[in-house]
Amino acid sequence: MTRIFSGIQPSGELHIGNYLGAVKNWVALQQRFESFYCIVDYHAITVEYEPAALRERTRDMAISILASGVDPARSILFVQSSVPEHTELAWIFNSVAPLGELERQTQFKDKSSRQESIAVGLLTYPVLQAADILLYKADLVPVGEDQLQHLELSREVARKWNARFSPATPFFPEPKAEVTPTARVMGLDGSAKMSKSLGNTVGLLEEPAAIWEKLKPAVTDPARVRRTDPGTPEVCNIYHLHKAFSPPETVRHVAVQCSTAGWGCIDCKKVLHESMTAELAPVRERAKEIRASPIAVDTALRSGAERARTVARDTIREVKERMGFGS
Ligand code: TRP
Repeated sequence: MTRIFSGIQPSGELHIGNYLGAVKNWVALQQRFESFYCIVDYHAITVEYEPAALRERTRDMAISILASGVDPARSILFVQSSVPEHTELAWIFNSVAPLGELERQTQFKDKSSRQESIAVGLLTYPVLQAADILLYKADLVPVGEDQLQHLELSREVARKWNARFSPATPFFPEPKAEVTPTARVMGLDGSAKMSKSLGNTVGLLEEPAAIWEKLKPAVTDPARVRRTDPGTPEVCNIYHLHKAFSPPETVRHVAVQCSTAGWGCIDCKKVLHESMTAELAPVRERAKEIRASPIAVDTALRSGAERARTVARDTIREVKERMGFGS
């Protein structure tokens, strides 16, 4: 069976950007593939952070993922730092990963330009990511567009390691990206990607009334100054959210009402709010239940880590054997 691996940073409760851009897709993919889903806490320490906050964000992320429908009986959900083979393989890969490629990563250039003091981990972040994926010899990696460069580096690491230590038959498969259908969700300001640091998010677990307060002032097509001005659905963020949350007939209806000025933007937002509530209410309910039984979260993560480790240990044993470690 085809195996997939994906990781998400422990940023706390999911917002609808990372829900639509990642986790909703994970829920669909777990039906068809053997799935490994990892909360990558070691990736989260390459920039300044608070230890107590990291613990809480990791837990909240696990709750959000489970509430979204990732089923721990079907998928392997675990926290990266509970499987030490990730860092072990990352060190090994440091000896084959090309420095030039790492320095050229857009994310590194971006993040390092905003830091006063740059940790080496920010540079080698994609090496740990390659270790995450290759430890499980995953064939497919569901990611957003912004991760394609990191994935290319994982492929290069696999090629380099194979060429050096397993030339006859490649030991590591070269993982392929499976680009998430809703790759980029814009924030409610309509001008930048939805992101916690920009404060333009809608939380997955927010109450309907709170979501409505955020939708009301959200930016729409600037051409719709008056109620009677027709708009262009494709340029409006609200329309894109309809495509993610509303049924296809509603999406078609919205497009007509917008381009003929049949509806005002506020009418359109009301319909979006109904669609969002319909999808998110059950998620919020599940999150409440999960939060009420902390043991269930611990059990799911512990069993995920155990199952992941069984695979990870085998890979590391074979890797070390081929590299000349041990007797
Ligand atoms: N770098 C990814 C992100 O920021 C997270 C990640 C870490 C990941 N390891 C991974 C994604 C392995 C896919 C596969 O979104």
